[in-house]
Amino acid sequence: MAADTPHSAEYFGEQRDFWWNHDFLELMARRWGLPEAPRILDVGCGVGHWGRLMLSLVSARATLVGIDREPKWVEEAARIAALQGLPAQYQQGDAAALPFEDESFDVVTCQTVLIHLRDPEAALAGMRRVLKRGGLLIVAEPQNLSGSLMLGKTRFASPAEEVLAHVRMQLLCERGKQALGEGHNSIGELVPGMFARLGLTGVAVYQSDMASPFLPPYASPAEAAQKQQLLDWADRDFWYWDREDTQRWFLAGGGSAEEFERNWAVVRATSQRVAAAIRAGTEESVQAGAFFLISGRR
Ligand SMILES: C[S@@+](CC[C@H](N)C(=O)[O-])C[C@H]1O[C@@H](n2cnc3c(N)ncnc32)[C@H](O)[C@@H]1O
Repeated sequence: MAADTPHSAEYFGEQRDFWWNHDFLELMARRWGLPEAPRILDVGCGVGHWGRLMLSLVSARATLVGIDREPKWVEEAARIAALQGLPAQYQQGDAAALPFEDESFDVVTCQTVLIHLRDPEAALAGMRRVLKRGGLLIVAEPQNLSGSLMLGKTRFASPAEEVLAHVRMQLLCERGKQALGEGHNSIGELVPGMFARLGLTGVAVYQSDMASPFLPPYASPAEAAQKQQLLDWADRDFWYWDREDTQRWFLAGGGSAEEFERNWAVVRATSQRVAAAIRAGTEESVQAGAFFLISGRR
């Protein structure tokens, strides 16, 4: 990632608006017994997607504070909140050193943030610290590795070696990213254990029920956003990550430079074949992944 590109810039496209079914989140709000007018903290808020969803589940008397290390995202989140008249304030800060008093929020939450942190368990301890007694910690994090076997129609017919090259590439990159202290991309399945070690009670794990068809002519808003992302990534030197990060993580995960070159050519060729199938209107798949909601009470 270029040094002047703010964190996660590749992942803030329209695709992000289709991650959750709203009626599923309403069900979750009932299961959790979300207070009507909570003070909510959204850690690593980005441009505010997740925080706005949380606000939509509670009354207009709720308030939300969002914190992110990137000034550009804080500014953008504040601009959107002002435009929509939301009771949300945003500030710059580090998830590893939350600048809030102990026990100051009813709900503390984050979405796809722990996957980026060197010490996610320490960050969770900080989130617990600023949570009122009886308050709820809610974390939405994926197990991304499972996505490497969501093949779709085009890739299902690929040689097995090609599919396995993808899985190996992703596994070694995830291990390497973690070894370099840049986060664990499949941390979702480890978060419940962290909650338990922090002494949270009623630890529960749920899974997003969002799965969407991706069928020609890819006309629904979710399909159009997915199509745009897949074509954009295929047309550039980009896989799930840019070449530079992918190579760094692959090597740190135990892969060799020669294997990286071979596998990069494989995954890029696959992306381009899928892009060609989308352009020809022959690709069919389901967009889904293992995306967990983990909750517990202080
Ligand atoms: C994938 S985005 C998620 C944004 C938002 N939670 C959402 O779901 O739309 C990850 C966010 O975490 C932020 N971030 C990464 N490390 C951070 C840290 N140490 N402290 C605060 N924010 C951080 C990034 O700037 C980015 O906005």
